[in-house]
Amino acid sequence: MASGLSHALVVALQSSLQATTTVSLLAGIVSHHLVFRPFEIDGYAWQLFFTYFTAFFVLIVGNVYAAGYSATLALVRALLVTTAYNTGVIASILIYRAFFHPLRRFPGPFLAKLSRFYAMDNAAKRVKAYEDIQNLHKEYGDIVRVGPRELSINRPSAIRAIYEHPTRTTRSPWYAQVSNDVTKISLNSTRDLKVHKLRKKAWERGFGFRALAVYAPRVRAKIDLLLSKIAEHSGRPIDMTEYAMFFGFDVMGDVGFSKDFHMLESGSEHPAIKGVHESMLAIGVLGTAPWLLSMISKVPGAAAGFSRFTTWCHQQLQEKRKVVADEMAMFKDQDPRDVISWLIKAFNEGDSSAPPGEMAMQEDARLLIITGSDTTSAVITNALYFLARNPDCYRQLQVAVEEQFPRGVNDWTYERSIPYVDYVIQETLRLKPSVPGGLPRVVPPQGLMIDNDFIPGGTVIAVPTYTIQRDPRFWHDAHVFEPKRWENLSTENAPWIPFTRGQWACPGRNFAMMEIRMVISRIALQYTIAIAEEDLGKRFDKEVKDTFTLTLPPLRLVFSPK
Ligand code: HEM
Repeated sequence: MASGLSHALVVALQSSLQATTTVSLLAGIVSHHLVFRPFEIDGYAWQLFFTYFTAFFVLIVGNVYAAGYSATLALVRALLVTTAYNTGVIASILIYRAFFHPLRRFPGPFLAKLSRFYAMDNAAKRVKAYEDIQNLHKEYGDIVRVGPRELSINRPSAIRAIYEHPTRTTRSPWYAQVSNDVTKISLNSTRDLKVHKLRKKAWERGFGFRALAVYAPRVRAKIDLLLSKIAEHSGRPIDMTEYAMFFGFDVMGDVGFSKDFHMLESGSEHPAIKGVHESMLAIGVLGTAPWLLSMISKVPGAAAGFSRFTTWCHQQLQEKRKVVADEMAMFKDQDPRDVISWLIKAFNEGDSSAPPGEMAMQEDARLLIITGSDTTSAVITNALYFLARNPDCYRQLQVAVEEQFPRGVNDWTYERSIPYVDYVIQETLRLKPSVPGGLPRVVPPQGLMIDNDFIPGGTVIAVPTYTIQRDPRFWHDAHVFEPKRWENLSTENAPWIPFTRGQWACPGRNFAMMEIRMVISRIALQYTIAIAEEDLGKRFDKEVKDTFTLTLPPLRLVFSPK
């Protein structure tokens, strides 16, 4: 039997060049249809790469030792095999995607149908993927094929179908960059619906009403610090992009871990946070092809900046665990004092909502800082930008806040609800959502109906947040900052999805709203604002980047006491 096989191998290796080329070409076509197409291989790029090169090497060795060719001829034959194989795979992929794919009837740029490199090329030019998608919708309509298996759907009905309860979609391979193993990944990377639903409960407890009451005075202390920095710069320009970012991270350090990054005090970025920001550009560009981002992030040293942040979070988590163990022993009935302690508590008590493994716990510790900081800071900066450019709205905001606190800042408390403050925040999140792109989800095998359109199973679909929130069909004066429009609108019924909806919705929403309300109302009560240089105001709009969250350019504002 063994000798029969080895004889067959030798015959195969010694076959004519024409036969070898044909078989290799066919093998390429077959492997596309039997391996690459039916299975989700996005997370296995390195394994495939090494298998490929091992096969190449084995082929050369086989050609020399089994078939008796010289080394040069063996190399030439191996190159012929791989070239023919590659041609088979690539031709099969391109022909299938262009002419036979179930999404072929949906419009979109021809190159986008063939490969995600189309989106990557666009993203690399301006790092504004959300505008690239908006332009595609203007050209091709509501449903656009933005990638070989990706559709962007700019319709309010798609929000319900894709994101809201009952959840019919799962998260796309984009979320599997770390792993698909639920014991090793964060809540945000978890694609399994049941596991995700369970884990979300621990986070919701960490941001429940009782927890928010514990965090509020600590946020207030950070706001006092931010306001003191603004006072130091009174009458002179201060870069609010930078200071809002310092504020966002300082708050999350405190409320997340009871730790202080001291960024507001020092006026500089903590090295761990610098690491996060260094990685953002790569996420913005490479995130368009998730398999490539997953591959590159596994190269040793490629994510060095991010590792600094990972190490910091890991240390904080370990220190925190000791503290939580002591606190639990001493104050049995007391609620945890920060978000990570809620997760540690669930973990220690073996609660079903706890992160399901040590690595998952560590990933959640990182998620906590990352999701809660830049998102909130961007809203604060963007709101101040809009208010500075729209003095009438700022005046209206000041009137609304003064009505509540006629004796000024000494009167100020967080508890009082001021509708106009919320309108300003909602309108800012409409025009400049902190996560501007569509959040990709996978259609279940049986497919999904969106109005009269059938979306085949396995399609990656998303509602483009920025595009739908600026679509003139759904918003009058869609590009105008007009907080008053919210007097007659509800965030639930309008196509407004900055925190997304349903099972995937942001658990930090109420906390973020609390932070932003506090900052905006305090500033309105104490200061007038102006953009330091008008051309900088215009550049602020132009130079923003889509790095999954928005990365904002500097915004120099002048605050003058009222
Ligand atoms: C205005 C500020 C914020 C905005 C616009 C925002 C937006 C979002 C969005 C769009 C998502 C969905 C992401 C996805 O599915 O890929 C999300 C998820 C999440 N956000 Fe926020 N967020 C904000 C503030 C916060 C804060 C302060 C926290 C607190 C730590 C937080 C924690 C989270 C977490 C843990 C998730 C993952 C939820 C899940 O996987 O189910 N966010 N956020």
